[in-house]
Amino acid sequence: MIKSKLEQIGIFNDNLNKVKPSPIHSFDEQISNVPNILKLTIGEPDFSVSQHIKDVALKSINADDSHYSVSAGKMTLRQAASYFLNDRYDLNYDAEEEIITTIGATEGLYALLASILNVDDKVLIPTPAYPVYAEMARINGGQPVFIDVSEDDFILTPDRLRKVIATEQKIKAIIITNPSNPTGVTYSEAQLKGLAEVLRETNILVIADEIYSELNYDANHVSMAAILPEQTILINGVSKSHAMTGYRIGLLAGPAGLIKKINMVHGFVIMTPSNPAMAAATEALAGVQSKNDTLVMKAAYQERRDYLVEKMTQLGFEMATPGGAFYIFAKIPDDLNQNDVAFAYDLVDKQQLAVVPGSGFGPGGESYIRISYAASIEMLKIAMDRLKNYCEDKRMSEIL
Ligand SMILES: Cc1ncc(COP(=O)(O)O)c(C=O)c1O
Repeated sequence: MIKSKLEQIGIFNDNLNKVKPSPIHSFDEQISNVPNILKLTIGEPDFSVSQHIKDVALKSINADDSHYSVSAGKMTLRQAASYFLNDRYDLNYDAEEEIITTIGATEGLYALLASILNVDDKVLIPTPAYPVYAEMARINGGQPVFIDVSEDDFILTPDRLRKVIATEQKIKAIIITNPSNPTGVTYSEAQLKGLAEVLRETNILVIADEIYSELNYDANHVSMAAILPEQTILINGVSKSHAMTGYRIGLLAGPAGLIKKINMVHGFVIMTPSNPAMAAATEALAGVQSKNDTLVMKAAYQERRDYLVEKMTQLGFEMATPGGAFYIFAKIPDDLNQNDVAFAYDLVDKQQLAVVPGSGFGPGGESYIRISYAASIEMLKIAMDRLKNYCEDKRMSEIL
């Protein structure tokens, strides 16, 4: 192991002093070696990529499509993204000037934040939220401002937003995740319109992370970009909708002037996305069979969600309405240990079942757990048996 004096003298960017590792991955790493562990921790689709998508990636490799492309992504991919957004959500983005394709939604978000944040600029984050947002804001010199929305069924309301805007200075952006990770809640058109009314009066950029848009079970997904296009950058991609997390293709869509600047940062960071991955994502976004691929996965997720909601409700868990994504965010019943971190470790210890402690997702997540149902129904059945055993043992030991 090479030791360097440089880490002791503090060679790093000061912003990193404020950055914490992802609580999801830290927890997952700690419990992964427990024998017989059943993990419902990571938001990773458990489906294989469809053969017709793989075939296109292979064709790209075999055709020696092995050179640099353009940083915004191949025009065919951007056209496919434009088609996808129009076909599914009635959005109109010009492939040439209003869309860039990124290394997953993650790099898109990074390039976007790096493009807009000056020191101490604030980013509003309704919580519980995907932990990456706050840390990415901090890496880029910004400050996350958490808005606890747990009291409002995990939906940001115009009133709460108005109050935060009235008290905070230097707000640059707000991140609205719809459907939400970790809660699974979805925003209705009326709820988005209510927020848009408040935001329209400000210079705040809306970062609409809609990576789970194709997994909306109870309603048609409505995009924030349809309601406030002039002030919104839309984030999406193929990771969740097409089970292509490892292909690493995401997209940003928004007003041309904003996209142009973000593309500058994006290009310096990544040069270009990978060609086989772009080819595969083109097929995923615009191929004739792809829409059905997603519907098949969606039906399976929905079945799993319904199963979990039924079982967990029977065990006394209350939960945010899980209308989308593949997460259940459930309140630990009052008669069990309300400390979510202690609860999660104890569940691993006693029943070898891993779920993520809710407090890792920021204010409002305390005394909740997040369960990812990106796992087979057979696994979920075993998980629910284990959770049932855990709850029964705890309740019995209280009585004795
Ligand atoms: C809300 C949200 N946004 C973005 C991402 C990252 O997506 P990608 O794999 O396309 O980078 C995730 C992954 O879990 C997520 O939950």
